[in-house]
Amino acid sequence: MKKIGVLTSGGDSPGMNACVRAVVRYAIYNGLDVYGIERGYTGLINNHIKEMNKRSVSDIIQRGGTILKTARCPEFVEDKYMQIAVENMEAYGIDGLVVIGGDGSFRGAQDLYKKFGVKVVGIPGTIDNDLAYTDYTLGFDTSVNTVVSAINNLRDTMTSHDRVCIIEVMGRRCGDIALYAGICGGAEIILVPEVQHDLKQVVKKICLNQRVGKTSDIIVLAEGVCKAEDLKQHLKDNGVTGSIKTTTLGYIQRGGAPTMSDRVLAARCAVKAVDLLMKEEGGKVVGVRQNQIIDVDIEEALKMPRKFDEELYNTAMILGL
Ligand code: ADP
Ligand code: F6P
Repeated sequence: MKKIGVLTSGGDSPGMNACVRAVVRYAIYNGLDVYGIERGYTGLINNHIKEMNKRSVSDIIQRGGTILKTARCPEFVEDKYMQIAVENMEAYGIDGLVVIGGDGSFRGAQDLYKKFGVKVVGIPGTIDNDLAYTDYTLGFDTSVNTVVSAINNLRDTMTSHDRVCIIEVMGRRCGDIALYAGICGGAEIILVPEVQHDLKQVVKKICLNQRVGKTSDIIVLAEGVCKAEDLKQHLKDNGVTGSIKTTTLGYIQRGGAPTMSDRVLAARCAVKAVDLLMKEEGGKVVGVRQNQIIDVDIEEALKMPRKFDEELYNTAMILGL
């Protein structure tokens, strides 16, 4: 392997830049040429490919987002567009590709490998932490810390006014951001898609808290459950009196400087990905399990059912009483 490409795809996440930097520098260190592809698979189809050097990735380790930009590219599911992408790569002599993204991006990577034989290695980059094969994805830790900081601020004002606050967080169908931010922020209630909730019990808990002198509650709501405003209406309709406020954190939790954990994970995953490509291995994704960097076949990784940490959830619920 002489030339590799690197792209970021799907929703951006803090740590993607640190990862691009590590891929570029480690590959160059090992004598490879590296090409950056802009806007994920869109750039591969439109031929937005540029050679990178060590200086192209200066001063980015601390920045959220991605200097390579990212995109969602719906046409990439069609073979004819994938074919164009493959021809563009061939024209540059690129024979290996690092894809930094989430499960959708990995499906694209899997097709490139299975249908066209492109040697692709995926690195999990998403704030959602929704990939079963890895304990953590790049950006999750930073995102959770941003949410925790928001909970701290919200608690100050909600407590002062004896209010209930519903904080809606991202995560698509995965409740990990809500769970981890909830336990770290001392939330009274955490609602996630993985756990069936009896909303009557939620109402009961808030009313009971009020009776025993707990005059303010933080509810962390994963976006995969419902909208904050709908939950607020339900609480009001079912007997929660007093002031209920909602805050939807939105994109603020997707930006920002990556934490130590995300930067270290970025570096370790990048090294593993480039090592695999140098051994001519493709069709793999790298990740972390019990603090060890691992690699798994993409197909197998995408089939793994995600396990929700019920023990941690139960702990959070007990501690939030
Ligand atoms: P993420 O990678 O963060 O999960 P998306 O689900 O939006 O983000 O996927 C990113 C991109 O990956 C899509 O816009 C598309 O280009 C590509 N992709 C997603 N699913 C497939 C698929 N089944 N086959 C080929 N490419 C796909
Ligand atoms: O996958 C990351 C994520 O931020 C999800 O948490 C959220 O549901 C989604 O992307 C939002 O996507 P968009 O950028 O298209 O609004």
